[in-house]
Amino acid sequence: MARNILVTGGAGYIGSHTVLQLLLGGYRVVVIDNLDNSCDIAIKRVQELAGPEYASNLSFHKIDLRDKTALGKIFASTKFDAVIHFAGLKAVGESVAKPLLYHDNNLIGTINLLEIMVANECKKLVFSSSATVYGWPKEVPCTEEFPLSAANPYGRTKLFIEEICRDVYLSDSEWKIILLRYFNPVGAHPSGYIGEDPHGTPNNLMPFIQQVAVGRRSALTVFGSDYATSDGTGVRDFVHVMDLADGHIAALCKLSDPSVGCEVYNLGTGKGTTVLEMVAAFEKASGKKIPLVMAGRRPGDAEVVYASTAKAERELKWKAKYGIDEMSRDQWNWASKNPYGYGSPKSGASLIAHI
Ligand code: NAD
Ligand code: WQD
Repeated sequence: MARNILVTGGAGYIGSHTVLQLLLGGYRVVVIDNLDNSCDIAIKRVQELAGPEYASNLSFHKIDLRDKTALGKIFASTKFDAVIHFAGLKAVGESVAKPLLYHDNNLIGTINLLEIMVANECKKLVFSSSATVYGWPKEVPCTEEFPLSAANPYGRTKLFIEEICRDVYLSDSEWKIILLRYFNPVGAHPSGYIGEDPHGTPNNLMPFIQQVAVGRRSALTVFGSDYATSDGTGVRDFVHVMDLADGHIAALCKLSDPSVGCEVYNLGTGKGTTVLEMVAAFEKASGKKIPLVMAGRRPGDAEVVYASTAKAERELKWKAKYGIDEMSRDQWNWASKNPYGYGSPKSGASLIAHI
């Protein structure tokens, strides 16, 4: 079993939840993150949640993946069995405005990482891809064999990195690479001690709902109510971040399978939920009314997207456990305890007593 794991972007939303599960699973974890969209409080809280037995198995280095010298030093100091690569910029709108930033950060960062992995004979990788590579799917559920396309520069960086990974594997069959295509990650650790804390105005549905519920924003704008869906709003496959974290452990285990080359798996629940159904689930969990402003469709949005989960179930032995009620409960638990995310005054001190 791989024991020393490098996690890029491990201070971020999905990364921090995965790092916690890795520690509890007995792995030693080195996190590198430039804290561009996160903060080191998340790392400290992961250590507290892991408890004294496991906390010392985590070390953190504030490093940008584009800094090859710094990256080289990390690999010189530890022999890694595998890398989980979360680090990247992910805001679709920003990627349209700043495509070069996205290509520089996501592509150059990944190429640097792969080069240093080659130089250090570390050839096991789990990469954060996205359902965005299905573009506007013609049918659902999306299977891993669907044609790929990108609707924006962010999506293109995911597509290109997937292709780079396939080329790297074709050049050297010793590589073992798993590309995980996440659908719509939501929720938080059930302690409410770590969760999603986006910088600036949230782009995604759940963080926006959460900020309305805690009074930071007055209403949720619903983008589109004329889709051909049960209530006219868009349909997505929301997946609990704790399920995703477990999906990464399953992928790591799979890397030890001799048959693995460069593989791709969807991580979703296989169930579609409309925007209004998600709002209703959150209202039920929080007891808060979410005022709505109905608006036109958001440019670039697909109508209905959800995953086929058969391949992950069959080959990773992974299946999402949580539904939208648990996702909403845990999202609200995090939001109500940390209305301003990791910047909430004294939230940490009062929370740890409840763990
Ligand atoms: P996040 O922004 O919370 O985490 C990404 C982390 O990477 C951040 O902590 C950021 O500071 C760091 N980072 C970015 N560029 C870096 C660089 N050059 N060097 C070092 N660190 C860098 O995002 P997340 O939601 O946790 O997403 C993790 C990964 O999963 C990303 O690659 C994202 O594209 C992908 N993904 C996310 C979603 C989603 O909706 N959250 C869906 C599908 C795929
Ligand atoms: C979901 C639904 C919106 C906000 C994005 C990225 C994708 C992936 C996941 C990284 C849609 C509606 C949203 C709001 C709304 N990320 N909505 N009001 O668009 O499925 O996927 O995040 O890889 O690449 O594109 O997620 O949460 O933005 O939207 O009505 O304020 O909620 O129109 O129908 P999306 P989302």
